[in-house]
Formats: sequence, C-alpha cells, structure tokens
Amino acid sequence: MKAKHWLLALLMVLVVALAACSGGDDGASEDTGGDSGEATSGDSGEEASEGDGEVVELVYARGQDSTQATEEIVKAFNEANPNINVSFREMPSDTGQQHDAYVTMLNAESPEIDVMDLDVIWPAEFAQAGYVLDLDRFIQRDGIETGDYNQGALSAAQFNGKQWAMPKFIDAGMLFYRTDLVGEDEVPQTWDELAESASTLQGEGGTEFGYLMQAKQYEGLVCNAVEFIAAYGGQILDENGDVAVNTPETVKGIAKLVEIAQSDYVPGNINTFTEVESHTAFIEGQSPYIRNWPYQWNLANDENESEIVGNVGVAPLPEGDAGSAAALGGWMTAINAYSENKEEAWEFLKFMTGPEGQKISAIYGGLAPTLPELFEDEEILEANPFFQEEGFQNALESAVSRPVAPNYPEVSEVIQINVSRAIAGEVTPEEAVAAMEEELNQVMQ
Ligand code: GLC
Repeated sequence: MKAKHWLLALLMVLVVALAACSGGDDGASEDTGGDSGEATSGDSGEEASEGDGEVVELVYARGQDSTQATEEIVKAFNEANPNINVSFREMPSDTGQQHDAYVTMLNAESPEIDVMDLDVIWPAEFAQAGYVLDLDRFIQRDGIETGDYNQGALSAAQFNGKQWAMPKFIDAGMLFYRTDLVGEDEVPQTWDELAESASTLQGEGGTEFGYLMQAKQYEGLVCNAVEFIAAYGGQILDENGDVAVNTPETVKGIAKLVEIAQSDYVPGNINTFTEVESHTAFIEGQSPYIRNWPYQWNLANDENESEIVGNVGVAPLPEGDAGSAAALGGWMTAINAYSENKEEAWEFLKFMTGPEGQKISAIYGGLAPTLPELFEDEEILEANPFFQEEGFQNALESAVSRPVAPNYPEVSEVIQINVSRAIAGEVTPEEAVAAMEEELNQVMQ
C-alpha cells in the first residue's frame, strides 16, 4: 500500500517537473483562470497581488480553537500577504454540529466561507456532494510535493482519485497523566490497571475525579469506543468493508468502556463530556488522567490557561487483551466549491497546510504535523517533547481508522446511539453490539 502511494507521488512529481520544463505554465493558468471566477484576479492573477492595492477578504472557518494556533496562522499569513485579509469564523467545537452547519451552508451553495477545515471522516461525503473544490490543478501548478506528506493522511483526503483537501494535522488518542501524582514507572499499562489507579488517586492532590474521557453521544464517543473495541481485538468493519462488529472481542471492549464510564471515578455527568469539558477539568487539576488528542499537552502547559503546567506526562492508551489502540483523527483544509475567491483561498490553504503553517500549528497548538520532516524540527520538539517518543510515533502509525463511507454520519449515529444506551445501562454490551450489527447492515448498503 505504502509503496504504491510513494510511487504515485513520485510519478506526480515527475509529471509536474516535465510540465514545468515544457512550458506547462499555460496549462496551469488556464486551469485556475477557468475556475476562479473572482473579480479581483481579472485576466492575470498578478494584477490582484500587486499594483492596484485591492484587498480580497477571505473567511476561514474551523471549530473553536482553545490554543493560539489559529490566531497566529492568520496573523502570519495576513502579514505576508497584504493583498489578502483572512478573517476567522469560529464554528462549533463538536465535530458533528460543525459538520451540520457546513452542510446547511453548502447545500444552499453559500459562498460565505472560503476555506474550511474538514474532519478526517468527511472528505468522501463532501467530495461526492460537490461541496469542495478538487485541488489537483493547484497542486500541480505550484509543484506541491505530495510525497512529502504522511501518505495515510494524504489519502484520507482523496476520493475518486482526486485530492479534495490537504492534510493539516494528525490526531491519535493518548493518555495524559499528572506527573506529580503518577510516577513514570507507575503509568498504567492496561485498562484494568488504569481503572485501579484512577480509583485510588481520585481525591488526591486536589483532584475530584480519577479519569476523564469523552462520553457524550457525539463523534468523540465513537473515537473512544473504537479504541476500546480495537484494544480488545474487535472491529466494526472487516478488511472487505463488511460489518464485523458482533464478536465477543467487541463486546468485551464495549463492556470495559461502560464499566469505566459508569464508575465513581469519572464525573457523574460524563455523558455530557466532549473534548472541551474534559480538557477543562484536566487543566483545572481535577483529574490525574485524561484520554485526549495531542493538543492536550500544549493546553495543559499554557500558563494563561492551566493550573498543572509542568506536571503533565503522555503515554500510549492502556492495553486491552489485544494491545493498545488509538483512534485515528485529524483535520485537513479544503476550499468551498462556491467560494468567490478560489485563487486566494488556495494561497491561504497552501500556507496553512505547508511547512510554515504546520510549524505554527505544532508550536502554538501542539498539533502533530502531517509533514514527517517537521518531527525533526528543533523548535517543534522543544514545544512538544513527546513527539519524538517511540510510544507516540507508534500510536500515530498504528492508529485505527473509523469506517470510510460517503454516508459516514449515519454510520456514526448507529455507533453513538448504541454505545450511549449501554453507558446509560438501558442495554447490555451484548445487546448494544447486536443492535449495532443490525443497524450498520442497514446503513452500509
Ligand atoms: C478530533 C479528531 C477528529 C474527531 C474528533 C471527535 O478533533 O481530530 O478526527 O472526529 O476529535 O471529537
């Protein structure tokens, strides 16, 4: 698989190089001129960028950012591009709510947003619906080295052989712990050890809880569930894409998730916790442990936000019978197909998902780059020392994907509802998994 991607990328680079040598310029300007119907570019893109002083207003949307990263990226881009002014539109932080807001806007063919970040689970749906622009023409024209990107993250933004977005950062679920409460050699290796330690430490060092997770009925619950299911050897779909959820292994994984979510050492209202509620409780010092994405490190060490600065450790999630498993998450950036400023939108997208933008994301946001070379950047490593740890790199490499489907929201809903019912004690883990099987078979047709 990987070798194939590399070959493809290499081929693409060669094609681009050949096109450049043989006066490929024409093709490129034709391509972009054709689609970028914005007034400011006129006949030649040059006019807008220099001379006339006209400033194109761009709107960039993404979910609420608890870190400084978005602000810094927008600032750096605007300073370097006096002819473009990007303003940030904050969307709901819950990825499902954010998804629905975009779908409403894009269904109405609204140009109000130019550039937006897409969750790794959306590209198939957005591409098929024609909501986002195919980026191949820009990538080829500007000689973007797609081979430099993490190939898994890159291919997550492909559909029908086209590139619909560029990967901005990769997420993988991790265990964060308080180093003032948990010694390095005491970090729980299994979910049973975690349960025991969480229960023992609850109440110590000013904590109120023992463990924090995301257990609201929303996408984050799917990620938590995927991690438990995989850690105990289960799966949702098999390698042929068929529903394969109803196994003793999946039941065991869900049972462990339910045991933890129903325990006394998580907040009583854990079924209302998304990333925001859980990271807030963690940085307020309320828990020795939290399951979260890599950004947690940066936020927990931010002097303006956190009460636990300098007391944070990171480890792979605990193991079940089959080992440790992290859900694969991450975001990529796309252009609204109805944007009236496509050329400028591309310039911003290129900056944000390129080395400079990703470096800002990593330093100010603690986000893991999709350009592997950045894992060797000294400033990035200084801000995120755990990026170079083997456990982190392994978690990224072996992270478990959620099902890929153009109707992913329906697939997700089935998982969310049934896991929530099990957490609420309305059904047993066995019943939840059996219902999941039946309903997934219906929506996966
Ligand atoms: C993070 C992940 C994303 C996932 C979401 C769930 O943002 O990057 O892929 O869907 O969390 O809450």
